[in-house]
Amino acid sequence: MEQSYLSPIDSRSLRYALGRFASGITIITGVVDTVPTGFTCQSFYSVSLAPPLVSFCVMKTSKSWPGIRSTRRFTVNVLSEEQQAISDAFAKSGSEKSKQVDWAVFPGGQAIIANTLMWLDCSLHSEHEFGDHFLVIGQVENMSPVDWNNQGNPLIYFRGRYCNLQS
Ligand SMILES: Cc1cc2nc3c(=O)[nH]c(=O)nc-3n(C[C@H](O)[C@H](O)[C@H](O)COP(=O)(O)O)c2cc1C
Repeated sequence: MEQSYLSPIDSRSLRYALGRFASGITIITGVVDTVPTGFTCQSFYSVSLAPPLVSFCVMKTSKSWPGIRSTRRFTVNVLSEEQQAISDAFAKSGSEKSKQVDWAVFPGGQAIIANTLMWLDCSLHSEHEFGDHFLVIGQVENMSPVDWNNQGNPLIYFRGRYCNLQS
């Protein structure tokens, strides 16, 4: 009997298949009316070194993105394996989540989460609408200094679960 290697492309199957792509976890943050906000984001990737461009996708239903977009500035915070609670907190909508993290002070007023593996301060370069998401391109304006970088390991997301490099 001939075996089928094809699966239907429905949302559930696609989510299951894409869950086999392991990645780090970031929090995209911004400061809206002096209040830090943000959301957990797995879809971050680098686009270009010269000029320095990065990208992520955000759901059209995101509550925090419209405010961050309006400032045309955001920070990408790359989480360490000790920061799963921060990922969980920012994976929910609502204003309370910003009270659950320590924010680092930055002269420009950006929202930077303390003790991450690294951060990138970005200006909004462009935004494109695709399906149920916006694809956002950011231009890196500042980045974490070498002595910021915690030597820890990344928080990893794989098959719908958090993992670390040891597991
Ligand atoms: C591990 C993980 C990865 C996520 N990655 C993304 C992502 O890449 N883009 C996105 O829009 N939402 C992503 N989310 C979902 C958002 O974090 C979640 O919808 C959050 O509630 C959005 O907050 P907001 O509505 O306040 O913006 C992810 C959630 C988790 C747990």
